[in-house]
Amino acid sequence: MSRSAPLVPAALLPAALLLASALTACDGGVHGTPGGSGLRDPYFPKAGNGGYDVTHYALALAYDPDTERLSGTATLTARATQDLSAFNLDLDGLDIEKVTVGGDRARWNRTGQELTVRPHEDLDEGSAFRVTVAYSGTPKTITDPDGSEEGWLPTENGALALGEPTGSMAWFPGNHHPSDKASYDLTITVPEGLQAVSNGDLTASRTSGGRTTTTWHTAEPMASYLATLAIGDYDIHRTTTPDGLPVHTAVDPAQAEASRKVLAQIPAVMAWSEDTFGPYPFSSTGAIVDREGDAGYALETQNRPFFPGAPDTETLVHELAHQWYGDSVTPKTWRDMWLNEGFATYAEWLWAEDHGGDSAQKTFDDLYTHGEDVYDDLWDFPPGKPSSAAHLSDSPVYQRGAMVLHKVRQRLGDTAFRALLRHWHTTHRHGTADTDDFTTYVERLAPDKDFGPIWEEWLYGDGKPERA
Ligand code: TRP
Ligand code: ZN
Repeated sequence: MSRSAPLVPAALLPAALLLASALTACDGGVHGTPGGSGLRDPYFPKAGNGGYDVTHYALALAYDPDTERLSGTATLTARATQDLSAFNLDLDGLDIEKVTVGGDRARWNRTGQELTVRPHEDLDEGSAFRVTVAYSGTPKTITDPDGSEEGWLPTENGALALGEPTGSMAWFPGNHHPSDKASYDLTITVPEGLQAVSNGDLTASRTSGGRTTTTWHTAEPMASYLATLAIGDYDIHRTTTPDGLPVHTAVDPAQAEASRKVLAQIPAVMAWSEDTFGPYPFSSTGAIVDREGDAGYALETQNRPFFPGAPDTETLVHELAHQWYGDSVTPKTWRDMWLNEGFATYAEWLWAEDHGGDSAQKTFDDLYTHGEDVYDDLWDFPPGKPSSAAHLSDSPVYQRGAMVLHKVRQRLGDTAFRALLRHWHTTHRHGTADTDDFTTYVERLAPDKDFGPIWEEWLYGDGKPERA
């Protein structure tokens, strides 16, 4: 197609018009621009990437604990959200063997955690595309800004993959930000005799030639920080709740005795949670219990929370509550963490209230009057604006976050608050939400009530609010 000759001599055209015609001269040829190298998260600006959405991850991996070597191929199905000449994936460590886009070899280069892929041809906005990355190596353990360890954690006879907040880039390339959720298929091959447990549903397991290959399917959208893989020697138990929900637990034999009673509570905790929060958003549940010391924290990995040693009932309640708050409705940015931890902590308070323990009011009052004796940082910053990435898992996010919810409960009344617990997450089921979405939602629930002071003092205010 030829461009028509200018009707007016260039000398007579204003500069702005000239510029515009110079820009449109690119039409029909190369049209895309590179996608962003980060999503400008307030705490992890390089996490995630611009220009596309991942809809599905297919990970085909093999791991040998003796050599600590992981190898495999990640196949991502994505949709371009702009015309793309290049796009980034996040991958920290490991060696790349080959990258393809749409079946054609693509050029790539790396700087830090950013893997830049240049497809053979530009990708059109709105088009679906498939990228494969073949890679291998010894995955990294990443130290969080708060000093805790995540990513890939080798254990005595296997390894653990834990991803909050940025650990998943240690074991597979992706768009590693909570705002981009996707479905997953994971195939993992390990030496015979070991188990490999992940999220979702176990769809196949086959042993041949001294190696066992297990496949896991996660149909519901999952944020990549909730993806897990636990490789090791586990006692596996598969049952169903009285309602028919599959329960799949994997327990390190050294923790079997200490875990038996608390894991037997899973059906009761699930039943109470469904009564309190509404229908469970996923197709199976369970737990992974590893040895104490392999990881320093529990994590609400989707379907199957992870515990470093046998949990107590409160921790089990907390991690299962996250399946509704955090895993189904996921924070849009890491600033919105209190929407995860405030709800999961409040779930512990409600469990106590409903099971003959302290009322949530008493828990709130105790925290208000002498909470700083237990949590010396309780009033250090407001839940809606954590002071830095190093403090995302501190008590202002957890305990003070739960206190915000208790203030909302006081203002709404119990009946409306119970409705909030059931409907807030369904409004964003399998999606994402931020703090503004939450405050707007609450204000719409009770338009006649004033929540302004709660947001100003409890959610965003510095220091200890003046009145309980
Ligand atoms: N989300 C976990 C929980 O409450 C705790 C946690 C583990 C965490 N790793 C983290 C919180 C990293 C923030 C950042 O059970
Ligand atoms: Zn939590």
